Amino acid sequence: MITQEQLPMVAIPSMNDTHLEEIIIVNKLDNAAKNNDISAVSEILNELLEHTIEHFSTENEMMEKAKFPAYDTHKAEHDRHLHELKALVKYFEKTKDPRAITIHIEGNLEKWLIHHIQTMDTVTAQFLAQNHTAGSY
Ligand SMILES: [Fe+2]
Repeated sequence: MITQEQLPMVAIPSMNDTHLEEIIIVNKLDNAAKNNDISAVSEILNELLEHTIEHFSTENEMMEKAKFPAYDTHKAEHDRHLHELKALVKYFEKTKDPRAITIHIEGNLEKWLIHHIQTMDTVTAQFLAQNHTAGSY
């Protein structure tokens, strides 16, 4: 469970909105897994996957457009995380084991998300905010 207060704020409002949407989905997934609701877990996992694909491609595009110097590093981290999430979805579809989801969320996903926002997203948003006119994101 991630609360809105735990979510680090960055300098680009649209990125904060996306991060908030994401923690809402992650919390919903956590609840469904704890309730052993297999069909809900399956549905929310796909929702999270779609949201993450869209989230990362939007961020990648903004970095590319602004010629953010650490684009490659940030994008590589997105690719790595997306690969992991896809593997988790595949694993769940095969095993239907909601404990794997809970373990992944609590042992990995929540910590990764907060850390990623605190570090790469914070630096990126600062760069974007300084290099572009306000309101373009
Ligand atoms: Fe990011």
